[in-house]
Amino acid sequence: SHGPLIAPSLLSSDFARLAEESQRVADADWLHVDVMDYHFVPNLTLGLPVVQAIQKTSPVPLDCHLMIEAPERWAPGYAEAGARNVTVHAEACTGDPRDVARDLRAAGSLAGLALKPATPLDDYLDVLRDFDTLLVMTVEPGFGGQEFIAEVLPKVRTARELVQTGHLKLFIEVDGGINADTIEQAAEAGADVFVAGSAVYGADDPAKAIAALRAQAGA
Ligand code: DX5
Ligand code: ZN
Repeated sequence: SHGPLIAPSLLSSDFARLAEESQRVADADWLHVDVMDYHFVPNLTLGLPVVQAIQKTSPVPLDCHLMIEAPERWAPGYAEAGARNVTVHAEACTGDPRDVARDLRAAGSLAGLALKPATPLDDYLDVLRDFDTLLVMTVEPGFGGQEFIAEVLPKVRTARELVQTGHLKLFIEVDGGINADTIEQAAEAGADVFVAGSAVYGADDPAKAIAALRAQAGA
């Protein structure tokens, strides 16, 4: 029904020039914003005030990936800020993730659930009926520029089958190590949203890199 979505990750951009960096990827589908809190992952990036500022100037809808503890407390703020999609980690939710999905949708965004590489999909199949996006991490969350973990792709395949047979209705997003060498495997497995940090912002021409990734993903 829709072609592949390319979501450049601001994590690999110049944090001192976020407005310009969002404009350099104006032809992307979503702009991926990695929120880290030094607790859920061993890194710290930015939070709601900065996301609110980016939202005001970004030409591309925001895709907020919350790598934070107690996401149920903070996630709706990102939806209220105007993000298109807000994703929380299943491993970080203290209560039922479906409550977060309900709050996100009520606040006006799509609701996403992220799984670290070692987290089984099977534990969340029921829960995912209430979500719009499944984010399958293809690296350990925390840093850009890591190597793609192909062993995670069976989760993408299973999710795609469940979407094809009508059991789930989800964007299937992959995040980590996506580049010209890996995107085809992820697309073949059934992903339809592709986060790319270093592959886009590390390129001389980010617009060209986005177009190339989109073509490789099967647009
Ligand atoms: C890692 C982040 C990713 C990161 C991907 O925890 O979730 O979004 O920016 O960077 P690359 O594409 O360089 O692996
Ligand atoms: Zn991310």
